[in-house]
Parts: sequence; structure tokens; C-alpha cells
Amino acid sequence: MKKIGIIGRGFVGSAVEFGFSAQCGCNAIIKSYDIDESRKKDSLDETVNNSDFIFVSVPTPSNHSGIDLSFLMSALKSIEHVNRRNDNVILIRSTIIPGTTKKLDEIFKNLNIVFNPEFLTERSAKFDFINQSRFVIGGDPKFTRMVAQLYKWRFGNTAPIIQTNFETAELIKYMNNCFFATKVSFLNEMKILSQKIGADWETSIQGFVSDGRIGHSHTQVPGPDGKLGFGGNCLPKDVKAILEFSKKLGINLSTIKGAWETNLDVRPKEDLKNYLN
Ligand SMILES: NC(=O)c1ccc[n+]([C@@H]2O[C@H](COP(=O)([O-])OP(=O)(O)OC[C@H]3O[C@@H](n4cnc5c(N)ncnc54)[C@H](O)[C@@H]3O)[C@@H](O)[C@H]2O)c1
Repeated sequence: MKKIGIIGRGFVGSAVEFGFSAQCGCNAIIKSYDIDESRKKDSLDETVNNSDFIFVSVPTPSNHSGIDLSFLMSALKSIEHVNRRNDNVILIRSTIIPGTTKKLDEIFKNLNIVFNPEFLTERSAKFDFINQSRFVIGGDPKFTRMVAQLYKWRFGNTAPIIQTNFETAELIKYMNNCFFATKVSFLNEMKILSQKIGADWETSIQGFVSDGRIGHSHTQVPGPDGKLGFGGNCLPKDVKAILEFSKKLGINLSTIKGAWETNLDVRPKEDLKNYLN
């Protein structure tokens, strides 16, 4: 019987919990903990010590230097503090900048950490978790193999499992979100152009998306929330984080910068107030 622990029961943690639950046809023992009393089901000690795989999905919000790791640091500290085992694997599901997991792995030497990004969207979180297009697991092969076996046990061969190093797994998550954000900004720009020249937008989009190489996601302008540009909890945060990160590396990501600038032009300002310095 697989033993699953959930730390952080928000969008991501709840979707994981659902995916391994009896309600979803899965035969796993689940313990789950949240620092918020109203979301907490089990104690931290029970969750950590009764679980072979511990999914950590706590917030990593934006801050002036890119990303605030304090929630994740404090979650890992508390896990390390109560953990009496050396065979359980900690899966970091929170989105973190490349290079972060390696540092965390060095700080929390007693924890077996892998980085396993999540690709779900909030609107269909539970559905997305059980319908993954791929699983990405970064870290020491000894532990990524254990997580790969868990996903194989749960999902069979429905999706490829990519095992790689920390940095690659971390980068893949940002590549996806920055690409989606860029796609949104590109189509917002095309819509502005279409209005200027009197083109029919519905027909333009139909003609564009009919080329199968484009893909249907992120092509709605305005988006599903009825607003122009990209908002929500992930795309602005992740675009800002990668821009701050690239600045520190001395790399000019002009495409992503452009996507951000277009978003500043079209998105209602109140949606981006946390990102305006
Ligand atoms: N929401 C999404 O669509 C999505 C998709 C992919 C990845 N992510 C990433 O996953 C992470 C979590 O996102 P979310 O949307 O689930 O966040 P959320 O805010 O919905 O949930 C986070 C939960 O963590 C809890 N928490 C905070 N500190 C804790 C601690 N020390 N111990 C235990 N619980 C703690 C909070 O109380 C909250 O319930 C973020 O890094 C986010 O970028 C989110």
C-alpha cells in the first residue's frame, strides 16, 4: 500500500490529494497537513512519519528580488524537525527558480528531495492532475526512480515520465509558463492590430489555430476571466521571477520582456499591482 503525505492543501496539494484518493479510484493511505488550521487534517508529525512520499505545495510568491522562498524554507525546516525516517522522499511541487532545489538539498541534508513541477491550471486543478501530459522529476536518480515508480503505479503508462537533474526540471516549468504568457501577449498584440485594420478577429483566430502546430490553449482574447492579457496566480509571478533571475545572470530575455511589457499595457493595473515596483 502506497503512503502519501500532503503538505500544503491549496490548489496543487488538494489536486494531488484527490488524485491519490479512494474517491478517484486509488488505493493509497493519505495523510495531509496545512499550517492553516481550517485546512489541516492530520498533524505534521503523522503526515511526515507515516508517508513514503511527501508532496510539498506551499506558496512561492513574487517579491522585489524575484521569488519569496520563506514559505518553502519554513515548510522544509518543520519537516526536517519532525522527520524520524531516512527513507521517505520529499517532492517539491512549488515553482522555484533554477538552482534553488540544489541549494535546498544542501541545506536540508537529512531530507531526500526531488523537484517535481506541477502543470495544472486552477480552473481544472483536479482534472489536470489526473490527466498529466508528462511527469517531470529532477534530482538524484535513486529518488527520482522511486517517484517514477509511484506515478507508474498510479497512472500506468498514460504519460511519459522524464527523470532529469534539478535544474532541468526547474527550467521546464518556467519554459512552459513563459511560453504561455508570451502566447497570450502575442495574441493580444494581434487583436490590437486586427482592430486597427478592420479584420474579423474570430476568422483570424480560426485561420491561425487551424494550423495544428499552434495549439488551442491561451488563444482566447480576452481570456477565460474576461480580461485582456495574463493574470492569475502563476503567469505574472513566474514571468517576473524569470526576468529578475536572468537579470542576475546578465542574460537579456527580450522576448519574455516584451511579453511582460505588452501585458502591462493591456491587463487591468489592479491585477498587476503586486508586480509593479
Ligand atoms: N495554482 C496553480 O495553478 C499552480 C500550478 C502549478 C504550480 N503552482 C505552484 O505551486 C505552489 C502552490 O500553489 P497553490 O496554488 O497550491 O497555492 P495555495 O495558496 O492555493 O496553497 C498553498 C497552501 O500552503 C499552505 N502553507 C503555507 N505554508 C505552509 C507550511 N509551512 N506548512 C504547511 N502548509 C503551508 C497554505 O496555508 C495554503 O493552504 C506555488 O509555488 C505555485 O506557483 C501552482
